[in-house]
Amino acid sequence: MRKRQPAEPYRIKSVEPIKLLPREERVVRLRRANYNIFKLDGADIYIDLLTDSGTGAMSSRQWAALMLGDETYAGASSFRKFEKTVREIFGKRFVIPCHQGRSAENLVFTTILEKGKFVLNNTHFDTTKGNTLHKGGIPLDFPCPEADSDDPLPFKGNMDCIRLDEFIHARGSEQVAMVIMTITNNSVGGQPVSMANIKETSAICRKHNIPFYFDCARFAENAFFIKRDEAAYHDKSIAEITTEMFSCCDGAMMSAKKDGLANIGGFITLDDEELYHRLTELLILVEGFPTYGGLAGRDLEVLSVGLHEAMDYDYLDFRIDQVKYFGEKIKAAGIPIVEPTGGHAVFCDAGKLLPRIPPGQFPGQSLTVAFYIEGGVRATEIGSLMFGGIDSETGKMAYAPRELMRMALPRRVYTNSHFDYIAEAAEKIVAGKDKLRGFEIIREPVFLRHFTCDLKALNEETVFVDT
Ligand code: F0G
Repeated sequence: MRKRQPAEPYRIKSVEPIKLLPREERVVRLRRANYNIFKLDGADIYIDLLTDSGTGAMSSRQWAALMLGDETYAGASSFRKFEKTVREIFGKRFVIPCHQGRSAENLVFTTILEKGKFVLNNTHFDTTKGNTLHKGGIPLDFPCPEADSDDPLPFKGNMDCIRLDEFIHARGSEQVAMVIMTITNNSVGGQPVSMANIKETSAICRKHNIPFYFDCARFAENAFFIKRDEAAYHDKSIAEITTEMFSCCDGAMMSAKKDGLANIGGFITLDDEELYHRLTELLILVEGFPTYGGLAGRDLEVLSVGLHEAMDYDYLDFRIDQVKYFGEKIKAAGIPIVEPTGGHAVFCDAGKLLPRIPPGQFPGQSLTVAFYIEGGVRATEIGSLMFGGIDSETGKMAYAPRELMRMALPRRVYTNSHFDYIAEAAEKIVAGKDKLRGFEIIREPVFLRHFTCDLKALNEETVFVDT
């Protein structure tokens, strides 16, 4: 294994202190949070890998752009700049700003979904699934068969086009409200989709006359993988690849808190004029006037710069390699991971590491708790706590396909010594893994239960790794 990753392609201009609380204090705070990691405060955490969403560091150019924010209610110059940027990068006619990805989902699904209609996706992210269900739709996933394989294959985020086509034939295209491609595919490990797969999915949608949209929070990271791993694209720029990707879809919803390199923001972009008008009617009701959509002018300025910076080749090359470097370290510490590492996170296979903890007792949560207690590190469960529960169609208890724990890397925030430190904590957890026990839910909401549920440790004494 290599000793270190190439050094960061940036230097630090502003610092934010972080502090590791004593171990006993971490135990107290986690108990107080009912073992739900989302209920901890930022100040309780040493290294926060809960999400790569809205947690990135802005560049000096973005901080400078922030001062240019035009806070005019209607027709702000900051919006015009943002609209031009989004049009140039993604190539669609209309741009609807909104405050984050799930508000884009809410607007789209409220406007187009009829009760009982299907939304088909390579894999829904939790808020996309939640928003579909909330509007009475039925979200179904069509991940490619390789997504479940242990082999480090490229493009494991792909859509299973054969199953997708069969499903549409069997149910009839009028039953399908929309096909969505999540790029990169967050829920299967931040794995990318290939250009070939995007084109194939697009052709199926065109054949059946079904709208085809991207959920494109991490479009630039996806474009990097296409450049690196798809032979025909080695010599194309990230911007050219992005243009080609988006020429295949009818529109997109973006959480710009990821590859917008901003702390807040999102948008919908599309060509359909009639739908644009319907969406903006609702936008005014729930988000704001169409030239700000719930954002400040300064946010729109920051996004206009960030969307371009996210497509910088050197930045992407470092970032994707940093995720890989971290993954190699975690694997060397003895924790099985999803391979290859994807664009934004290392996904640990808690099901494999802790086979004695059944899915119904959330092995991913046990590992998440262990990382907090051992290292003050916050990760998140991506398994049956997030995706399990009573199935709306069958009425039976359903479990996630894999019991994972995600460690997401905020963009441009942590250096490689932070990741080396976490790998040391991982070694200690692996040494004490037989002592880890499961959890049960003692209170849960109807939607997105992992965010706010309360948990109980099945064995308080043994839940913590004792080193
Ligand atoms: N789509 C994808 C693929 C996402 O990963 C997210 C958010 C959203 C939509 C919703 O966007 O947070 O701006 O409302 N993902 C974050 C994560 C929260 O941690 O993976 P949002």
